[in-house]
This record gives sequence, structure tokens and C-alpha cells, in this order.
Amino acid sequence: MNHLFTPYALGPIPLANRVVMAPMTRSRRPDEVPDAGTATYYAQRAGAGLMITEGVFISPEARGYGDVPGLWTERQVAGWANVTDAVHAAGGRVFAQLWHVGRLSHRSLQPGGGAPVGPSTTRADARVWLRETGMTDATTPRALETGEIPRVVADFAAAADRAIRAGFDGVEVHGAHGFLLDQFLNARVNDRTDRYGGSIENRARLLLTTLDAVIARIGAHRVGVRLSPFTVANDLPADGETEAMFRYLTPELARRGLAYTHLSDLHLSGGPDIPAAFLAGFRAAYDGTVILAGGLDRARAEGLLDAGLIDLAAFGKPFLANPDLVERMRRDLPLATPDPATFYGGDATGYTDYPPALVATAGAAHRV
Ligand SMILES: Cc1cc2nc3c(=O)[nH]c(=O)nc-3n(C[C@H](O)[C@H](O)[C@H](O)COP(=O)(O)O)c2cc1C
Repeated sequence: MNHLFTPYALGPIPLANRVVMAPMTRSRRPDEVPDAGTATYYAQRAGAGLMITEGVFISPEARGYGDVPGLWTERQVAGWANVTDAVHAAGGRVFAQLWHVGRLSHRSLQPGGGAPVGPSTTRADARVWLRETGMTDATTPRALETGEIPRVVADFAAAADRAIRAGFDGVEVHGAHGFLLDQFLNARVNDRTDRYGGSIENRARLLLTTLDAVIARIGAHRVGVRLSPFTVANDLPADGETEAMFRYLTPELARRGLAYTHLSDLHLSGGPDIPAAFLAGFRAAYDGTVILAGGLDRARAEGLLDAGLIDLAAFGKPFLANPDLVERMRRDLPLATPDPATFYGGDATGYTDYPPALVATAGAAHRV
């Protein structure tokens, strides 16, 4: 079965195939506004059934890496509108990834040069990318006060509203990889004693409240969530409670009728794998659309689709150097290897200058 290349109905949103472009930060916008290069980059990759943008900061406080295009000003909305127009003109679909880094930030990015916010004052032994200083140690955070949390939730909802105004097909709430919402889920970083800390229900409250606020603003069919069970990325320590957390979270996610849940497996980055039994258990308990990302190739993705374990397969790094990844996989053409030196920052090199396969192999002037 060539499931990967068959259409899929993401609720009311028709997707041309089951290949998803995973969210990837590229840090190429010093003014934090998407430009024509951003539009070209995404339009080149619009052969994906669904694209998820790089993480997009929802507010100035949410920032943790340099030169990332945001979604809190009208100029940014206008910049993203050019991107979504270009993607739609190329036949693609695109969700914006809504991102708050929490404690993974540096004071030079924070309003007034203050401390970043987190669930607690526990500093992440991790580094963030800044244009001036490259990879730089994260600043010790301050703990969000209970009374501030509704504002953070409202920031997510307002960014979702702006995303829809910018023409996005939906949003993905970034609940993965040790960023703010994931920090709250984690028993070892979240040491709060209010209703956002302690029990599993309390630690999940910020994530679920955020999803509810975003759903109320733009509708559940336009809201996905990204989670990374078992990840230890960005100094988020294993808390031994992932299974218990997901026993609680999974039915909560299911009953919200989300567009999808996107599971990120970061094992290739040094963390533990998502166990096969966990994925099967999640699938059995969750009746919505399941996306999986992390180390997939065509064969592995098709195996998972054929086994009914996932509905959509997300590819990250392969999309960087292969703008026409879907066509290359469909035709079994060789894949180009991306250059890690150009992942973050810089210009068009390693961004919009990777050619499609026919150009790369035969010098033809058109895309396959
Ligand atoms: C350059 C780069 C930037 C990334 N930025 C993000 C991001 O902004 N948000 C996110 O959730 N994941 C991000 N990721 C993780 C990818 O979405 C994906 O999960 C990861 O690369 C594993 O998939 P792969 O093996 O297909 O590359 C990034 C990965 C790379 C390589």
C-alpha cells in the first residue's frame, strides 16, 4: 500500500497526502517579521500534505531564540499573510506552531531585560541561540505567579486569532521539547504548590486550559498539539511519570476533538525512544488524528501507516535539503543531505537554495 501518497481528510481540511513537514526553527529574520524569503521557503515545500511552521513566538515574553519570526504584531500578521498566500497558491496547507519557551530564554530577549518565566526558579542547563553570541546559557527564570497564568493563556489565544487572520489553516500548540507547557507537565521542574503544580491533573492544567482557550477562539478543528513523551530535550529531566501523565492526558485530548495530536520522538537527538507499546496504547485510546515525527523515512512511515499506528508522518531534516521531498519519496529518488551549519541563522544559503530533484540531477528548469 502506498498510503503515504494518498489524500487525507484532516477534519474539514483536505490534505493531498499524508506527509507532514515538521516544525523547524530557522532563525533568519532579524526583525522578527516573515519576509519574501520566508514565503519562498514554505512555498517550495508546499508539496507536503500539511506544513507546520517553525515555532512562532506568541508574545515578547515567549521569546527564547534570536531572529525568529513572531506573531504578536500586525506587521508580523501581514508578513505571515504573504507566506500563507504563497503556500495556498502552491496547493499546500499550513499550520502555525505557537511557541512559548518558558525558562529556555535569555534576559537579552526579555521585555525590560528581565528574567524569563517558568513554572519554577529552576534554571535549565541548556543554551539558546542568539545572533550576537551564538549558543548562550539560558538565564535563571522567575516562577510565574498564579495570577499571571491567565495572561499567558490569553497570549496563546490571541496569537491563534492572529494566525487565522494571517490565513493559516490552523495552529499547533507547542507542548513539547521542554518548553513552557512541557515544563509545567514535568514533576521535577514544576515544583509549584498552586493549582498548576503537584498532582498530574494540576501539572496538566496549563496545557489543557491553553488548548481550551485556543479552541474557544478558533475552533477545535483548527487546533493541533505537539507533545514529546519521554523526551529529555533542553534539560527537562525524566520524571518517571510519563505513562501516568498520558493516562490522564490522552482522554482529555480525545474529548476536545482536536485537529490532531503530534507526537515527537527525539531519540536521534540523544533522548529515549517512544516505546512501540506506548504508541500502540496511545493510538488505541485516542480516536483523533495521530502524527508522528522523528527519524522517519519512507519505509518506516509506510510501515506505521499500514499498521494503523499513525495517520500522518512528519519529516523534519529531510525537508530542509529536499523541498520536493514528497515527489522524491514517491519516485524513490535519492535524498540530498542538509548541512547542519545552515540550520539556524544566515541567508538564503541552506534555506531556499536547495534545488528540486530534476534541477539537481538533470539541470531541468522546472520542478518535478
Ligand atoms: C533545524 C531544526 C529546527 C527545529 N525547530 C523546531 C521547532 O521550532 N519546533 C519543534 O517542535 N521542533 C523543532 N525541531 C524538531 C523537528 O520538528 C523534528 O521533530 C526533528 O527534527 C525530528 O524529525 P526528523 O528526524 O525527521 O528530522 C527542529 C529540528 C531541526 C533540525
